[in-house]
Amino acid sequence: MRMLDLITKKRDGYALTKAEIEFIVHGYTQGNIPDYQMSSFLMATYFNGMTDQESTDLAIAMMHSGDTFNLDDIDGIKVDKHSTGGVGDKVTLVLGPLVAACGAKFAKMSGRGLGHTGGTLDKLESIPGYNIVLDEDAFKAQVNKIGISVIGQSKNITPADKKMYALRDVTGTVPSIPLIASSIMSKKLASGADAICLDVKVGNGAFMTDLEEAKKLAILMVQIGKLAGKSVKAILTNMDEPLGFAVGNTLEVIEAIETLKGQGPKDLESVVLEIGSYLLEDAGIASKQAAMDLLKSKLHNGEALNKLVELVKAQGGDASFILNPEKFVKASQILPLVAKEDGYIDSMVTIDIGLAAAFLGAGRETVDGIIDPAVGIVFKKKIGDYVRKGDVILEVHANQKGVQEAMQTLEKSIKIGQQKHEVVLIEGVIL
Ligand code: URA
Repeated sequence: MRMLDLITKKRDGYALTKAEIEFIVHGYTQGNIPDYQMSSFLMATYFNGMTDQESTDLAIAMMHSGDTFNLDDIDGIKVDKHSTGGVGDKVTLVLGPLVAACGAKFAKMSGRGLGHTGGTLDKLESIPGYNIVLDEDAFKAQVNKIGISVIGQSKNITPADKKMYALRDVTGTVPSIPLIASSIMSKKLASGADAICLDVKVGNGAFMTDLEEAKKLAILMVQIGKLAGKSVKAILTNMDEPLGFAVGNTLEVIEAIETLKGQGPKDLESVVLEIGSYLLEDAGIASKQAAMDLLKSKLHNGEALNKLVELVKAQGGDASFILNPEKFVKASQILPLVAKEDGYIDSMVTIDIGLAAAFLGAGRETVDGIIDPAVGIVFKKKIGDYVRKGDVILEVHANQKGVQEAMQTLEKSIKIGQQKHEVVLIEGVIL
């Protein structure tokens, strides 16, 4: 096989076979195919697309480029979720303990935040002592014992995807649905769960800003998962405003704790219940409707919160912070942003809200940047709420870093209008 022939085949609109895709992925990872040929192939794919079978073959070839997790030692059906990334997205912190409290096995490898979106690992690490590094045996033993573990990626997962993504980033080939879908699914398949629910965020704070494109991505990822033998569903959720009220690591952990007590923001709770009920259904624990009722009961009887306490203890964290969230270190100043006129909160530039939190130190600009766990933003009003001039829309929790920049960005990112309209939170489900 020659890479040149495969490039021309894709350029001329033909579908590649599994063996041809494996040749490309393997050759590129090994360094036998140079960047200029791979760039050309990626651009041909960008213009001509891929069949579902090609995308699946690509995801599986990338999955096999590195280590994979075999979770067979964990009893029962292992469940996982994945978010394409949003602002204030603390779903995993609530969903994991909640579904584990219902008897599911939640075995999750999470990532760090970069740019305007936060990462679950950074949020977990704001709990003093929480250790995100467990070896594979300890990870599996913990899931068997208490039903949940959330760790960072310690193994060499999907090196082909890492190399290809870096090349796509500098060759204008990131926004290709088959390439995005196979990139995300290669990592999900490598982490070994049986049932996965994908939370595809759509809106001005998300990677996908257009609903139709987001739907295409969700459909393809579900299809790849099914062709690879997994049970995969997707929900499309709105990201035209942050999820919940809190943005920033400790602030989000505190909001997750409130939600696990049944006292969290309704939008966050709805997304958690929707994903949770699909996961419990796929795990064979309950029908979708019975799962909803079960999940709600665990939010109100203390078992979901207790599962978070168990998780934190099992991974070396100080669980007294979960039981007494006032112990978390607070930012040195809390600055209000007030409404300049009467009206309804009309829209938010959500990506800029994420960036404002990052300016304060809640996110990082480079992979080795340092996070300040205490800083962030707490909203008092969301889209559709009425405000009078002088009402507090949000509070900025800040230390020294980036205060002016964040305040200026936030001021410009929130629009007040005279008509009330509401966000549709769950914009679609792909089964
Ligand atoms: N996220 C991924 O993991 N891969 C992509 O290609 C795009 C977003």
